[in-house]
Amino acid sequence: MSKIRWGLLSTANINRRLIPAIRASARGELVAVASRSQASAQAYADQWGIPQAFSSYEAMLASDAVDAVYISLPNHLHAEWSIKAMQQGKHVLCEKPFALTLAEVDEMIAVSKQTGRILTEAFMYRHHPQTKIAGEMVQNGRLGRITVVRGVFNFAFDTRENIRLVPEWGGGGLWDVGVYPISMAQYIMGGPPQQVFGNQWIGESGVDEVFSGQMTYADDKVAQISCSFCTPFHTFVEILGTEGRLTMNRPFIGHNDGERQLMFYPKDGEPEEIAVPEKELYLGEVEDMHAVILDGRSPYLSLAETRNHVKTVLALYQSAQTGQIVTL
Ligand SMILES: NC(=O)c1ccc[n+]([C@@H]2O[C@H](COP(=O)([O-])OP(=O)(O)OC[C@H]3O[C@@H](n4cnc5c(N)ncnc54)[C@H](OP(=O)(O)O)[C@@H]3O)[C@@H](O)[C@H]2O)c1
Repeated sequence: MSKIRWGLLSTANINRRLIPAIRASARGELVAVASRSQASAQAYADQWGIPQAFSSYEAMLASDAVDAVYISLPNHLHAEWSIKAMQQGKHVLCEKPFALTLAEVDEMIAVSKQTGRILTEAFMYRHHPQTKIAGEMVQNGRLGRITVVRGVFNFAFDTRENIRLVPEWGGGGLWDVGVYPISMAQYIMGGPPQQVFGNQWIGESGVDEVFSGQMTYADDKVAQISCSFCTPFHTFVEILGTEGRLTMNRPFIGHNDGERQLMFYPKDGEPEEIAVPEKELYLGEVEDMHAVILDGRSPYLSLAETRNHVKTVLALYQSAQTGQIVTL
């Protein structure tokens, strides 16, 4: 096998970003899409020039024409369909949030081990050079001892018809976009928090439409995260250390022409803009799957890290519901 044949499991909006990434990759080809009806699958295949359209998810999973699937379903279906896909011999790139309970995550990991199929979480920004540069600056001590990580992801809906506003489908701001600063904090701190405290505002939808959380780590390090469905689009990350401060203006969604992306403010001296190579935001996660499947390399984002993302979200929700600090 020299190329991975990809199938899209659903016609979700986010596929728009993965399709060019698969096509830009050297070792991937997009061969199929599956939808809950033949008409929708065929219309989507025609629109995007995808060779094969399947009238059900099951039919695509049963096909020998597909090696790996991209799971872009509503959150409550991630575990079920990742497991079914692996049981049918497919490798899986599953969207965030990976699953909604730790029992689901553990079952997904167990099935990956049993079947020998690769399973990874689609956190595209983790593969981007900007994120790696920030991590290297922390690792090599440029910022000194890290004290605080702050991260924000806000946006507002055009319409209230959205899977993110349905409680029983794993809706909610923390599951949807709060997971980004949570995962960034884990990456920078080198592990999950020891304790968390959360506050949420539940909207008419019944899901958290605003969430803020404080997370504490060994050596008195702190991360503060917030997310909102009710304010104009804004993302930001700031990493504070004893030797300086690193700011990321678009930490999770890639470049914006003309805007300074990554700035370092040293304790002494002038602010410095850190150069970030251009890279298509979604390409890294696709290339990583190819390297893991074809070259036997370990996934860049481990399932242990993914499990901690889910564990941290659940702890924050528990804290917000009980008003208590939760120890992980
Ligand atoms: N990494 C990122 O940058 C990023 C960005 C956006 C979203 N996401 C994640 O990607 C996933 C999809 O988000 P999205 O906004 O793209 O979703 P969406 O446009 O609402 O699409 C979800 C798809 O799931 C399928 N589906 C199956 N059962 C469904 C049900 N009961 N109700 C509604 N849809 C159902 C539908 O496909 P068919 O009709 O074809 O079966 C639908 O097109 C979410 O987990 C989200 O967190 C990630």
